[in-house]
Amino acid sequence: MGRAVAADRDGARRFVALAVRHLAVPAALQAAEETGLSTVLVDRAGTAGDLAVRSGLDADRVRTVLDCLAAAGYVERQASRYSASAALSAVYGPMAAPQPIAGALRFWDGATTWLRTGSPAISMLDTDGSAYAAVSDELAAAHRQPAAALAARLVEHDLLPSRARVVDIGAGSGVWGTELLERAAEASLVLVDRPRVQERAMERAEQLGLATRVRCGPTDWRDLASSSIDADIAVLANVCHVESSSSAAALVAAAAGCVVPGGAVVVVDTIPEAPGVDLDASAQALQLGLRTGSGTVHSELDYRRWFHAAGLAEPFPLELEVPGSRLRALVGRHGSRAG
Ligand SMILES: C[S@@+](CC[C@H](N)C(=O)[O-])C[C@H]1O[C@@H](n2cnc3c(N)ncnc32)[C@H](O)[C@@H]1O
Repeated sequence: MGRAVAADRDGARRFVALAVRHLAVPAALQAAEETGLSTVLVDRAGTAGDLAVRSGLDADRVRTVLDCLAAAGYVERQASRYSASAALSAVYGPMAAPQPIAGALRFWDGATTWLRTGSPAISMLDTDGSAYAAVSDELAAAHRQPAAALAARLVEHDLLPSRARVVDIGAGSGVWGTELLERAAEASLVLVDRPRVQERAMERAEQLGLATRVRCGPTDWRDLASSSIDADIAVLANVCHVESSSSAAALVAAAAGCVVPGGAVVVVDTIPEAPGVDLDASAQALQLGLRTGSGTVHSELDYRRWFHAAGLAEPFPLELEVPGSRLRALVGRHGSRAG
């Protein structure tokens, strides 16, 4: 009995030690933000002593916090000199949002409520699309490179005819579709998304000189079945993950319903090969839950089941190979075996 209690105590101590260790980096980020140390570091690199003078803090404590942030990759340290990483500079530079760490911590504060009730901490899924319209430019910038890679891979696999009819479902900025248009001279694009998001995507298409080849389709993917869209390629990029498993299955089926024989459904997302413990994918799933209520990361096994149920051929992966991106593409042909 005594031994069991001691073992329990040891286990509890190890748990607390691990949790405290995991919380060290957020605590250091918060302390650096609240004291102004992050801003001082972004202004100019220096030793702990220099930075302490400029921020009015103690040099030893500054060194301790910065070493923690250096180990986590937020700060660079060469000998005794600290400098901000590019990411930290972007976050605390002149265009920065005020107090980004405070904002992130407020967001994660919503995890308990979400776990209890399923209510998101912030809802991205308004029916007019205001929330996603507001981040349209950011999404275009973040996804332009993988979208160009996808277009190149589809050309290599002979899946992008020059007159391809493309439907981009949950299109956001439309970057996935417009990159395909850049590669196929007579291709056309239908954007399926919420109204405010479509407006922003059309403005972007105009800026790119592509507006005559782009039109808006339904404002809800659930209306695709009655829209009589015929597509050679249906793109589902980063949209299945805003849906629960059952809705994502229906979304894949709706995309398959638009694709003509010989065409293909292309899913692009974070797609772990199997459900399981993968910190990046699990953290993204938790974040998606807090942003959407029931969105999550789906595994390749899930997608394979949904492609099969939608009458598509066994999907094959297209590796986008963009450094720093976990996005993968899965392609399922309609009415012909995958090549
Ligand atoms: C995470 S964003 C991805 C945007 C874009 N595909 C990309 O990768 O940059 C998800 C998009 O799905 C759209 N969306 C969410 N629910 C939708 C629905 N029911 N019908 C159509 N679009 C929807 C959102 O408005 C948003 O633009």
